[in-house]
Amino acid sequence: MLQAKITAYAKINLVLDVLRKREDGYHEVAMVMQAVDLHDTIHLKEAERNWITTNNRHIPMNMNNLAMRAVTLMQREFSGQVPKLEVTLEKQIPVAAGMAGGSTDCAAVMLGINQICNLGLTQKELEYLASQLGSDIPFCIGGPTALATGRGELIEPLPECPELHLVLVKPPFGVSTPKVYGNLRIHEVAEHPDVQQCIDGLKAGDKAQVLNAMGNVLERSTFELQPKVEQIKNGMLACGAEHVLMSGSGPTVFAAFAEQSQAEQYYNKLRRQYPGAVLTRTISKKQLDERVENYGRK
Ligand code: C5P
Repeated sequence: MLQAKITAYAKINLVLDVLRKREDGYHEVAMVMQAVDLHDTIHLKEAERNWITTNNRHIPMNMNNLAMRAVTLMQREFSGQVPKLEVTLEKQIPVAAGMAGGSTDCAAVMLGINQICNLGLTQKELEYLASQLGSDIPFCIGGPTALATGRGELIEPLPECPELHLVLVKPPFGVSTPKVYGNLRIHEVAEHPDVQQCIDGLKAGDKAQVLNAMGNVLERSTFELQPKVEQIKNGMLACGAEHVLMSGSGPTVFAAFAEQSQAEQYYNKLRRQYPGAVLTRTISKKQLDERVENYGRK
């Protein structure tokens, strides 16, 4: 029986800039994306029929789940080579959080199928297939640090981010990505983040430069829709962090630190206010490359 276990890492956006609204309804973006240690675990097992189970009751347990759509896409594209599969999702990444939780599960399923079925697809080929299911999924195929352009699906690897330590707060509600983009009035955005400064910082391995370049033009739009997110950001700044940013379209907000000890101290303080805060860190290419455990035929 074909079986695999895949670690599906969450992401944050160190920089998220929106350049313009496109004719197809999407927005042209330039984002520096970074994989983090917070992850879901996915088990794939050959089965009599396609089937999904999860420990999280907020996830749709049907064919609309992105992980399941990855299974059916791969079966359609490689008919006869991909058997029916049971997918088990052990969720830890918060849902509708701006951390690509659904996208990373979807990418993990595609990577797992590629290995257990010996499809031999290259990263670029997988990214192309992944782009059919969502804009953030191609990044989740590669990573751990990349520039994403177009609607987010065009991925260019960047030098690995020097290890940053992160404290995340996910408010007890989700936000809808289409609503956040829909509420954005891009021509009114006066200040755009400096994507190049972040890239230069990564090239130089300069943590301070990367931290200083952090920015997200979607913050204002999400804050208008959910003022609580801005309150959380302000609360996190007031608690003593210098670099605090919303990830993606939100509502997760993270504080980033150069040193582990700084992040731990901050986490212990912040937890009094936000008991659900999560301490994590950015991950290396080596850690990402070890994410698929292929148990082969058992
Ligand atoms: O591609 P994905 O399904 O993740 O996008 C969800 C929605 O978010 C899109 O339908 C669109 O409304 C919005 N979006 C956008 N520009 C992007 C990415 C997403 O307007 N670059």
